[in-house]
Amino acid sequence: KKVVLAYSGGVDTSVCIPYLKQEWGVEEVITLAADLGQGDELEPIRQKALNSGASVSLVANATERFIADYAFPALKANALYENRYPLSTALARPLIAKLLVEAAEEYGADAVAHGCTGKGNDQVRFDVSIAALNPNLKVLAPAREWGMSREQTIAYGEKCGIPSPVKKSSPYSVDLNLLGRSIEAGPLEDPWVEPLEEIYALTKAIENTPNEPEYIEIGFDRGTPVSIDGTDLAPVSLITKLNQLVGNHGIGRIDMVENRLVGIKSREIYEVPALSVLIQAHRELESLTLTGDVTQYKRGIEETYSKIVYNGLWYSPLKAALDAFIEQTQVRVSGTIRIKLFKGNATIVGRKSEFSLYDMDLATYGEDDRFDHKAAEGFIYVWGLPTRVWSQRNR
Ligand code: ARG
Ligand code: SIN
Repeated sequence: KKVVLAYSGGVDTSVCIPYLKQEWGVEEVITLAADLGQGDELEPIRQKALNSGASVSLVANATERFIADYAFPALKANALYENRYPLSTALARPLIAKLLVEAAEEYGADAVAHGCTGKGNDQVRFDVSIAALNPNLKVLAPAREWGMSREQTIAYGEKCGIPSPVKKSSPYSVDLNLLGRSIEAGPLEDPWVEPLEEIYALTKAIENTPNEPEYIEIGFDRGTPVSIDGTDLAPVSLITKLNQLVGNHGIGRIDMVENRLVGIKSREIYEVPALSVLIQAHRELESLTLTGDVTQYKRGIEETYSKIVYNGLWYSPLKAALDAFIEQTQVRVSGTIRIKLFKGNATIVGRKSEFSLYDMDLATYGEDDRFDHKAAEGFIYVWGLPTRVWSQRNR
């Protein structure tokens, strides 16, 4: 049997390699490390997989695909799980699943494997995405079954020549990609405990942010961000630059207790500077360019979309149908949003679009007013008629 394993370079996924071979009789383990802009040195990770017993060690640079095909469609949906979490980790999983399936098909593997535990959302996202992309592939999840504690895992690794972590390992569990960081466990498990400043890496503490506000302009084309301050940027460069600009002002931290699909409440901290400001800006541009009924109807679609993406249904028929609706709404969502960054807040201070539905002549209270005030009276009579009749009968 031949298996393609999702590989991060950490102890758990490294131990998966000898474990699959020794305990589960796998003949050949091919590892795949996905570069999603997390900034890791990939060559040492590639080597480490080989040293741990992988026959082939693949590295896939997928940052471009991640942003263009996963993050930007989610942005069009203003996707926020439970109204707060912009799915920075969740969006990476269907892409990694796709890379695994592509590699399995290329190398003729019978199964793919991942190192997720049995308590999280990520196992669901991997298993369901892989089933959707190639239902004939088996999915192996050794860490879901081996029942080893952290110490036992490290000991098992040492026995197989996998060095235990050199520095005293951090108490936190961190997931990282270009969209942001998710931090949980350790002292954060007590929801009453304030996070220590040490957990943050992409956003400054307010105490250290600039004392002057900074203004930026984000340009959108049909719902996709394309420029900062008038300069066109490719997706990866745009997110990289925006993370830096926004994080510098301490914007994009989220501390929440969320509901996992497996029924557990978990406390998670997110740092998502670029993505949180992009969603805010995108929604604002929609409020200028979409009719009220589409905007309001879309809110319900967005909530469903966020929930199913969180719950692992990226490659599902419902998700595809919602995408078609969302895509249709974006044809006129082009324009520019002006944002003031200051002391942890991103405040929208200006918006413009060639497709703006905002009509100054209708809105103004000045002398250019073109709104027919007399028309209001008849409208209100008809609008209020059912209420008037009800009141007359029931008073
Ligand atoms: N709770 C987030 C999600 O389900 C992040 C999961 C990974 N977090 C972590 N700290 N390892 O999408
Ligand atoms: C895990 O348990 O794999 C991480 C947390 C999650 O998937 O929600």
